[in-house]
Amino acid sequence: MYKNKISIVGTGYVGLVSGVCLADFGNSIINVDIDEEKVAKLNQGEVPIYEQGLKELLERNLKDERISFTTDSQEAMEESEVIFIAVGTPPNDDGTADISSVLKVARQVGKYMDGYRVVVNKSTVPIGTGRKVAEVIEEELEKRGENYNFDVVSNPEFLREGRAVNDFTDPDRVVIGTESEEAQEIMTEIYRPLFLDDVPFVFTNLETAETIKYASNAFLASKISFINEMSRLCEQVNADVNEVAQAMGLDSRISHRFLRAGPGYGGSCFPKDTRAIVSMAEEAGIDLELIKTGIQVNREQKEYMADKIINELGSGEEGSQLAGMTIGVLGLSFKPETDDMRESPALTILPRLIKEGAAIQAFDPEAMKNAAECLDEYERDIVYCANEYDVMKNVDAVVLLTEWNQFRRLDFERLKRVVNQPVFFDLRNVYNEKEVAPRGIRYIGVGRAARPAEKSEKI
Ligand code: UDX
Repeated sequence: MYKNKISIVGTGYVGLVSGVCLADFGNSIINVDIDEEKVAKLNQGEVPIYEQGLKELLERNLKDERISFTTDSQEAMEESEVIFIAVGTPPNDDGTADISSVLKVARQVGKYMDGYRVVVNKSTVPIGTGRKVAEVIEEELEKRGENYNFDVVSNPEFLREGRAVNDFTDPDRVVIGTESEEAQEIMTEIYRPLFLDDVPFVFTNLETAETIKYASNAFLASKISFINEMSRLCEQVNADVNEVAQAMGLDSRISHRFLRAGPGYGGSCFPKDTRAIVSMAEEAGIDLELIKTGIQVNREQKEYMADKIINELGSGEEGSQLAGMTIGVLGLSFKPETDDMRESPALTILPRLIKEGAAIQAFDPEAMKNAAECLDEYERDIVYCANEYDVMKNVDAVVLLTEWNQFRRLDFERLKRVVNQPVFFDLRNVYNEKEVAPRGIRYIGVGRAARPAEKSEKI
């Protein structure tokens, strides 16, 4: 049984979700960050990110005094037997992850520890980082002439944005990478409610745990690229990718999850982690051809979606194909339930449409502020609207780019009344031709056989 509190360094996405959820598991948490303003706000129950259920959970655990936020890392590390490192690891230009913040925390641990410590890597870190963390702590202890015992653990997170609280509290597995039995016991105790709930625990060594995280994300990203590639084939051979995926998924070895064709994956994890595993492997002399191709397919898929729209609506004159047209875009974030624009397909597709002369009307329930920042060079070409029906006013086509729930039950009669041309690009296959086309709207999905245009009509 560990005696003291747990420190979690970093109140970013991973640090905050882990802190709040571990507090809810009955642990006593000190969450550390260098940003004083952020710390003050968090102590008031203000959450800086949009994440379902997080605010309520934070408020409850603040009230019950199981979690507090501080900028004082020294005090936190002195008081805690277990220290989670959950700081950022942004990508370097070559795709490798920058672990300087992780090592900085390790150095602080070495400086301030005054007895046995378990140091847990929660950030997604390159394979081998756990050993480096241990070396840095040793170095600091040597400088101090101290000889305290410690263990380093790799405990990767598999959180999805928008579902993070749920993913943390009801995970498919908990991975714990350490050779130390004592550290294993302490980690099991920290995750006790999950252990009691029969969630599978994978105990393994540091490097294996670090690899599991990258391998899982690379597999899922490749799975998406696989179905996106299939969607291109389906379009040419009169097949329907949704039905293909559904039937494939009935084979339990395949599973239907993460087999939805669309405009390509985005976000902070899949693009970053696939590039990182490729460059780590290169350093180790291994060429990860399959993953590299998956990355390439994803890049192409975003372009392919832009081509699809341009080819369908365009005049054929390169550079001004969409001149004089206005296109309505529903959804900008890389997926629903987040305001995150990182690597969103919108960042490839919108500029392509604008370059061909189109004006854009767009709406996203959460991501418009971030979108305006990411797309600021196209400021004059994009009008951000108040809702989905304003987006549709006098447009030459509507493009559903992110499948927010409110876009899953569109009023097509209303759409038809306000658009200039009833053309609907469903880049997430939320609808199908059978339900949309009879209303006199031309329906174009992803990976669905091209049908003749006779049902489309201009009003
Ligand atoms: C992902 C992993 O799921 C999570 O385990 C890891 O910890 C972090 O990376 P996240 O980036 O939040 O999580 O989003 P996720 O829901 O996995 O979606 C990633 C991208 O794939 C989105 O752009 C989504 O639109 C796309 N996607 C997902 C598809 O195109 N098709 C699918 O079938 C599933």
